[in-house]
Amino acid sequence: MKLVTTIAEARTWRRDSRSSLGLVPTMGYLHAGHVSLVERARRENERLAATLFVNPTQFGPNEDLARYPRDLECDTRLLAEAGCDLLFAPAVAEIYPPGCATRVDVGPTATPLEGLRRPGHFAGVATVVLKLLNIFAPERAYFGQKDAQQLGVIRRMVRDLDLPVEVIGCPTLRETDGLALSSRNSYLGPAERIAATVLHRALQAARAAYNAGQRSGDQLRAVMLQVLAAEPLARADYVSVADADSFVELDHVTGRALLSMAVFVGKARLIDNVVI
Ligand code: PAJ
Repeated sequence: MKLVTTIAEARTWRRDSRSSLGLVPTMGYLHAGHVSLVERARRENERLAATLFVNPTQFGPNEDLARYPRDLECDTRLLAEAGCDLLFAPAVAEIYPPGCATRVDVGPTATPLEGLRRPGHFAGVATVVLKLLNIFAPERAYFGQKDAQQLGVIRRMVRDLDLPVEVIGCPTLRETDGLALSSRNSYLGPAERIAATVLHRALQAARAAYNAGQRSGDQLRAVMLQVLAAEPLARADYVSVADADSFVELDHVTGRALLSMAVFVGKARLIDNVVI
C-alpha cells in the first residue's frame, strides 16, 4: 500500500490508471466497522483508496478534537491487510491552507438531530467529503449507516451538486453484546463499556414495541428513554423517531423511520440508530 500526504500525489496516483476507484473516507483509529467498508470497496472496485484525516471543521469548540484517538501505524497495517492500494493521510494545512473559506451548506437535512446539537458539524463533514471526492473522483464512495444522518447529508449533497459518484451505505458492525463499533468507544472505562450497551438495548426495545404494533412517535421515544433512565452511567442527549430520509420528527410512523439517539457515557458521546 502506498502512503501519500499531499493532494498532488493523490491526484497523480488517481490519474495513473483509468480503472474503477472505490474511496473510503475515515478519521482513523480504525476498527472492524471501518474495515468492513474497505473490504466491500475492495470487492466492488479495481482500485481502492482510503483517507485518514481528523477533520477539524466538523468538531465544535467544546468537542474532542484534541484528544480524538490516533494510531497511524496500526491503521496503516489494517488497511494494507484489507487490500487497500493507497492511503491519503494529509496534514490539516494541506486540506485547509490559509485563506480557505468555502463551506458546503446542505440545508434542512443537516439541521435536526446531530445538526442541532453540533452546530456546523455537517457543514464541516460535507465540505471535507466534497474535497475528497474532488481530489479522487472515485466511481464509488463508502459510508456507514452507523452515522445515518451523515450518510443522508452526503447523499443529498451528491444529488444536489450532480457529483458523478455512487454513494454506498454499509450496515453497522457491532460487538457481540450489541455495542456499535466506534473509535470513541476507546474513551470508555470497564464499567462504562458495559453500560454503553444501553443504546442498543433501548433501540431494540423500541423496535420490539414497533413490531408489537406501536406507531406513536411519543410512545416509541418514551420506550427508549425508559431503558436509558435505568442505566445510571448513561445520560441521554436526545432520542428520536424521525423520517428516515428527511430526519423530521414523526408523530406517527407510517413509512421508513429512523430510531436514533445520542447518549453520554462517561466522557464519550455515543450515537446509534436502527431503521424500522
Ligand atoms: P469515522 O468516524 O472515522 O468513520 C468513517 C466511516 O466509517 C463512516 O462512514 C462511518 O459511518 C463508518 N463507520 C463507523 N463506525 C462503523 C460501524 N460500527 N460499522 C460500519 N461503519 C462504521 O465518519 C467519519 O469518520 C467522518 O465524518 C468522515 C466521513 C471521514 C468525514 O470527516
